[in-house]
Amino acid sequence: MRILVTGGTGFIGSHTCVELLNNHFEVIIIDNLSNSSATVVADIETITNKKVVFYEGDVCDKQLLEKIFNQHQIDGVIHFAGYKAVGESVQLPLKYYNNNLMSTTTLLEVMQQFNCTKIVFSSSATVYGEPHANPITEDFPLKTTNPYGSTKLYCEQILKDFQFANPEFSVAVLRYFNPIGAHCSGLIGENPKDIPNNLMPYIMKVAAKQLPQLSVFGNDYPTVDGSGVRDYIHVVDLAIGHIKALQFLKSTTGFHPFNLGTGNGVSVLQLVELFKKVNQVDVPYQIVARRSGDVATNYANAEKANRLLGWKAEKTVEDMCRDAWNYMKNHSN
Ligand SMILES: NC(=O)c1ccc[n+]([C@@H]2O[C@H](COP(=O)([O-])OP(=O)(O)OC[C@H]3O[C@@H](n4cnc5c(N)ncnc54)[C@H](O)[C@@H]3O)[C@@H](O)[C@H]2O)c1
Repeated sequence: MRILVTGGTGFIGSHTCVELLNNHFEVIIIDNLSNSSATVVADIETITNKKVVFYEGDVCDKQLLEKIFNQHQIDGVIHFAGYKAVGESVQLPLKYYNNNLMSTTTLLEVMQQFNCTKIVFSSSATVYGEPHANPITEDFPLKTTNPYGSTKLYCEQILKDFQFANPEFSVAVLRYFNPIGAHCSGLIGENPKDIPNNLMPYIMKVAAKQLPQLSVFGNDYPTVDGSGVRDYIHVVDLAIGHIKALQFLKSTTGFHPFNLGTGNGVSVLQLVELFKKVNQVDVPYQIVARRSGDVATNYANAEKANRLLGWKAEKTVEDMCRDAWNYMKNHSN
């Protein structure tokens, strides 16, 4: 199968391209490099010893998409491209609605035009808002607490309505929990240019002495040690989930949401301590007030992905800490 990967030079996209190539898929990437670098293409090729086709461009650019679909017989699409910074989405909601929604509708229009009927979409556990219980199953009520989360929820709805109107389409919506870690080669990973929004990149920048200390938002949640509990998943396990989803879509139609998580909750303080221990580095932190919009606990029931996709997260939190730091040490400059 030949797969178009939007946002393929980004954090999760690049790891997924590696797994696609390792599993004998052909890969075409479109990315506008708004949050990644073209050098990632060469890194993907080095890891896999295979070639990818790369288009630098915007998924909202319909003419470019038509050109790509004209030049290549595309069998399926994995749609990662989008903005993801929660805080920025609160400040600049239109930037998020324009990019995340328009890229999805434009892509669907062109897929329909070229009779390409299989799509895997990057969604997020953020669509569950503050869950009434844990672990979270796919049938929990959907609601969001910020514009970024709303773009994910609206894209899911767009995909659902579109699939209903076009029953020949098959759609997998993958709701990621908290992807961290990096490829074991140390060549690809996550290294945000600005102050990171997420915990692991922040821990790494503190460990690398690029930031003075980590702020832990709240130590009075009803959790094991008072800090927030999340379901961290190794990005390589997550990438493999996309391969399984594509294989599933081959023989089915319909709209299929799946949680991709480990099913284990780990607290912020537990993650910091594990990172220090595994990597033998210091991560100074201070406890500060809770951050608005944060929930106490959030972890997945990933049984549906296990049952229907034959997928299960394999890597440990230690693996995530080690691989993330290995990448960071290679890229701290
Ligand atoms: N990383 C997470 O914690 C997380 C969690 C849940 C969901 N997601 C979703 O997964 C997807 C991938 O996340 P990531 O962490 O790899 O992010 P990322 O920013 O590293 O990758 C996204 C890529 O998309 C590109 N891009 C953005 N808008 C584009 C456009 N209009 N046209 C072409 N390229 C565009 C960026 O340059 C970047 O390379 C995103 O949709 C994100 O919302 C991420």
